[in-house]
Amino acid sequence: MALLEREKPAVRVRDYDSHVLVCKGSDCKKRGSKEVRKALKGELRAAGMNGDVRVDSVECLGLCKHGPNAIVYPSGTWYLGLIGADAPEIVGKHLKTGEPVEHLAAEFRPRKKTK
Ligand code: FES
Repeated sequence: MALLEREKPAVRVRDYDSHVLVCKGSDCKKRGSKEVRKALKGELRAAGMNGDVRVDSVECLGLCKHGPNAIVYPSGTWYLGLIGADAPEIVGKHLKTGEPVEHLAAEFRPRKKTK
């Protein structure tokens, strides 16, 4: 198959330190994801970190019954069952230092072996 020849869009993107994806799917929304996102944005603003961290809303992350959920990159840390009151700790620790908030971060289970 031939590659489609095309030009890259002539735009540059900001180099953020972290990217937070907050689920806004229906289950997370019912449980307060909008407030969580608002709290995170407010904490970032108060800490003067608006330009360092990007917060986006995404559709379902697949763990609906545990929501509101969010993932923080570049570490790929999942936070499940967030409430707005968790925002100061996530911003003040994880997003400032890069170290996940251990007591809030989901545990990783081992990957299944594919071969
Ligand atoms: S609705 Fe948030 S994980 Fe599915």
